[in-house]
Amino acid sequence: MTRPKVFVARRIPAAGLDRIAAAAAVDVWPDRLPPPVEVLRERVRDCDGLVSLLTDKVDAALLAAAPRLKVVSNFAVGVNNVDLPACTARGVRVGNTPGVLTDATADIAVTLLLAAARRLGESMTDAKEGRWLTWEPLGWLGQDLSGRTLGIVGMGRIGFATAKRLHGGWGMRVLYTARGPKPDADRELGARWVELDDLLAESDFVSVHADLNDSTQGLFGAEQFRRMKPSAVLVNTSRGPLVDQAALAEALRAGTIFAAGLDVTDPEPLPPDHELYRLPNCVVAPHVASATVGTRDAMARLCADNLLAGLRGEKLPHPVNDV
Ligand code: DGY
Repeated sequence: MTRPKVFVARRIPAAGLDRIAAAAAVDVWPDRLPPPVEVLRERVRDCDGLVSLLTDKVDAALLAAAPRLKVVSNFAVGVNNVDLPACTARGVRVGNTPGVLTDATADIAVTLLLAAARRLGESMTDAKEGRWLTWEPLGWLGQDLSGRTLGIVGMGRIGFATAKRLHGGWGMRVLYTARGPKPDADRELGARWVELDDLLAESDFVSVHADLNDSTQGLFGAEQFRRMKPSAVLVNTSRGPLVDQAALAEALRAGTIFAAGLDVTDPEPLPPDHELYRLPNCVVAPHVASATVGTRDAMARLCADNLLAGLRGEKLPHPVNDV
């Protein structure tokens, strides 16, 4: 019997790749950079399965180029790189890697919040570059965390885990937006479901965890920054396009808000000459929220589970479309 063919769009941990390779003829893209669009289309031409990353666009054109494709296993929880309606219409199953990156991502949200609130990037750069003159009573003053108000935009798994850390560790009061109230958050964290405008006005820290879709693209613009407190800190670990970066840069420059911590930007990578890197009150990390050994191994395992189920024509353990 011929083995199914699979294209894996980057090297992923052996915890998943070895299992895929044991069941299929695997073509792994060896470069550090993603395959160019036309190369990706060419490589999936006779494939039954595809392991895609958030940098690989899976759209109608790719599907048209891959008539045998049965399953797309996205090595990420976010699936904004995949045209789900097009996959569903073609009968292609799509899976993602939920749950296993919740803790690592919440850890980075808290890390960025602390770094931005306490001016860690700015003060460390100053120290390295000779601007640490002495211990100064008025030097590098940041924001306190204990007992302040945290606004979670998008109370899913990662939003909840972030709120849990900051409520449990710093006694923060939690407000959140979501499609509807979340009884678990209300019960366990004393959290309150509010409108976005109220969350922005009342929060000292705003952490963004919503999915990227048509209704959340550009959710944070000049108007939203104006509604926030001048002492407020914005953290984004979801997707860059939720935030209008020009408006954010202006809000940081003008002191409309105090600081920002970003793990995601638009585009990625953010070019090295981008002004957000030069603003002392902005901390930018290169999309590393899920980058721990254990998390990436776990993502690889879920990714393999989805792919192998799809190749067998079975329902995926972590499906994101209804095929
Ligand atoms: C995801 O899985 O969507 C994350 O952004 C990867 O870190």
